[in-house]
Amino acid sequence: MKLTVVGGGSTYTPELVDGFARLRDTLPIEELVLMDPAQDRLDLVGGLARRIFTRQDHAGRITTTTDLDAAVDGADAVLLQLRVGGQAARQQDETWPLECGCVGQETTGAGGLAKALRTVPVVLHIADRVRRTNPRAWIIDFTNPVGVVTRALLQAGHKAVGLCNVAIGLQRKFAALLSVEASAIHLDHVGLNHLTWETAVRLGGPEGEDVLPKLLGEHGDTIAADLRLPRPLLDTLGVIPSYYLRYYYAHDEVVRELGTKPSRASEVAEMERRLLAMYADPALDEKPELLAERGGAFYSEAAVDLAAALLGGAGSPYQVVNTYNRGTLPFLPDDAVIEVQAAVGAKGASPLPVPPVDPLHAGLMAAVTAYEDLALRAALHGGRDRVFRALLSHPLVGQYAYAETLTDRLIAHNREHLAWA
Ligand code: G6P
Ligand code: MN
Repeated sequence: MKLTVVGGGSTYTPELVDGFARLRDTLPIEELVLMDPAQDRLDLVGGLARRIFTRQDHAGRITTTTDLDAAVDGADAVLLQLRVGGQAARQQDETWPLECGCVGQETTGAGGLAKALRTVPVVLHIADRVRRTNPRAWIIDFTNPVGVVTRALLQAGHKAVGLCNVAIGLQRKFAALLSVEASAIHLDHVGLNHLTWETAVRLGGPEGEDVLPKLLGEHGDTIAADLRLPRPLLDTLGVIPSYYLRYYYAHDEVVRELGTKPSRASEVAEMERRLLAMYADPALDEKPELLAERGGAFYSEAAVDLAAALLGGAGSPYQVVNTYNRGTLPFLPDDAVIEVQAAVGAKGASPLPVPPVDPLHAGLMAAVTAYEDLALRAALHGGRDRVFRALLSHPLVGQYAYAETLTDRLIAHNREHLAWA
């Protein structure tokens, strides 16, 4: 099996490689290709990746290249994990929206729109090359904003599935709280990428007993503290929101907080400097502890599980992925991309049925779906008007005066990445 990682020079890659080494029985990789435009990063990350495989006695070969066509030629699956503009662009996404009193975040709100506009054309170009060189390859998209990017890929007819680690992270957390194996927990997970709720926590599988009330009863305070939301709010919701919902339920509080501390982008940039210095040490042959401070915990497990299922081997039969709605949530268009449990196999992902959704959550999902639709149009066709319409539709923007200012700032800060600006 050959697997290609586009954005393989990311400081996250050792996490992925460590997962590939540990989980080789699920996903037997013969060749792993790390592709990245930055040769210096490839040298550092590729070196450590090889040492991780050697330390763990993995016989697979790891190669590095800056040539996309060569990288995807013959690959069974291609993982996309890139960041157009790097942490510098993220730093801006997290900053200028705050000046208008709106949340500054890399995937949510105006910052998320900026990221979508920079990213969609690049990802579509890469996917096109993949299809030309190797039409049978599966594309697994980790690239944010995963909802909009996956919708762009599917709309262009690519063999793609979008993936995020929020669900697998909660599965691991709940398993620890309940003192059971993670594999015993099946989450009823519903929503859009970075806008999800766990509506049931089942033991044993999709038909298993729902222990969410017990989980909230016994560990509600811990869960609320983790989410940094009030416990009574969780009791009112009766479900467990992902931490991205805090940007909605506590928007103004988050904006005040963000105004008083360094951006996440600057923290991550500093961590990346330290990580790259560590990777340069030829004695290092495992992923460093510091990597655990990034938000990507368990993303290698999720990637292995999904790739294994898509390539027809092992892998869990049900996984939380991003794919077309196709009637699963009747209040959303069929071509919306939703994040839910799906049956995953060699033919792709097909959502499991979802019980009726509380209007409290359905309303927000519908609004953000409309925003994602408008965001994708803006990313594909450009133009100030389309950016304005996407921002006006976003529930965290909504007012024309904010949308006007944010549109101008978004364009000003991203001109070099926007072909039409
Ligand atoms: C979570 C999200 C990812 C996001 C990451 C950010 O894992 O699911 O989509 O990229 O957090 O983590 P960072 O360490 O870059 O802030
Ligand atoms: Mn994510």
